[in-house]
Amino acid sequence: MSALADRYGRRFPYLRLSIIPACNFRCTYCLPHGYKADPQAAGPLSLDEIRRLLTGFTHMGMHKLRITGGEPSVRRDLTDIMRTAAAVPGLTKLAMTSNGTLLNRRLGEWMDAGLNALNISIDSLDRACFARITGYDRMQKILEGIDMALDAGLPSVKLNAVLMRGVNDDQLPRWLDYLRDHRVGVRFIELMQTGDNLAFFRDHHVRAIELETQIREQGWQELPRAADAGPAREYRHPDYAGRIGIIAPYSKDFCAGCNRLRVTATGDLRLCLFGEFGIPLRPLLQSDDQVEDLVRAIGGQIGRKEQGHFLHDGRTGIIPHLASTGG
Ligand code: 5AD
Ligand code: SF4
Repeated sequence: MSALADRYGRRFPYLRLSIIPACNFRCTYCLPHGYKADPQAAGPLSLDEIRRLLTGFTHMGMHKLRITGGEPSVRRDLTDIMRTAAAVPGLTKLAMTSNGTLLNRRLGEWMDAGLNALNISIDSLDRACFARITGYDRMQKILEGIDMALDAGLPSVKLNAVLMRGVNDDQLPRWLDYLRDHRVGVRFIELMQTGDNLAFFRDHHVRAIELETQIREQGWQELPRAADAGPAREYRHPDYAGRIGIIAPYSKDFCAGCNRLRVTATGDLRLCLFGEFGIPLRPLLQSDDQVEDLVRAIGGQIGRKEQGHFLHDGRTGIIPHLASTGG
């Protein structure tokens, strides 16, 4: 097994696979008019294609998979995908990012299928604000699902909240109430510019460091970074059961610890979320005996991975919104 490194010495044990671009939410920063299917577009990878893809990646040292969307639970065979992924030798961590719509109904099924980490996107704990952001009045059900996941002992449960000036950037007190007795990590994510959201970005972008300064002033202490840590800076506080993470994609060194590759729902390899190109892997997923070719193709691409993104220059790459690449 060769854990391939890129030109900057980074390795990629972590794959984020979008299984469907569609989403049932209409988040203001992502799909403000809802998901519109492109009738010309190819369908998402089949179960067999996914199994072959994952087999190829594990041959290269990948051991953590995150299933993303769009919204993964829009796909009817989600549980089968989980079961298939969990059975791939070498794949030890199976995570998913979801908006939580089906969580309270499917949690048991997903855990039985092998899911062991879950990130739920929840941008506000204020019901009306949540509904304004997502277009759905679902917050209460999602919170129920999160409590169920915590009670069921799912090994990792995290919440994601995108910070937006004038929308939800004054809600720290509510989050602190929640974190006092919820043993869960919430990560505040700085809004990123995408191809579609330029005007929204200009109006609502707020530096995550503003919130980070507030929590530091309130006695939250930064944890030492784990070797395989993601891009979040993590904080804890003795009076709170929960933790806070800060994800600031515009901060210096954000890309230095990059440990992930991405594959879109139709099987394009993306070396960076904000990369300028995708490499179609689907032709190499058509039969089980193509694994070696697949491994060679991925290996050949890793050397092209850039040191960082070009968001500072306003270059957002080829993605119109994060629903197409799964964030
Ligand atoms: N900026 C920051 N985060 C985003 N997400 C989607 N679009 C953006 C954006 N433009 C987040 C979602 C979810 C994760 C998959 O990505 O809210 O938490
Ligand atoms: Fe759907 Fe996530 Fe985009 Fe919201 S941010 S519309 S939940 S894909």
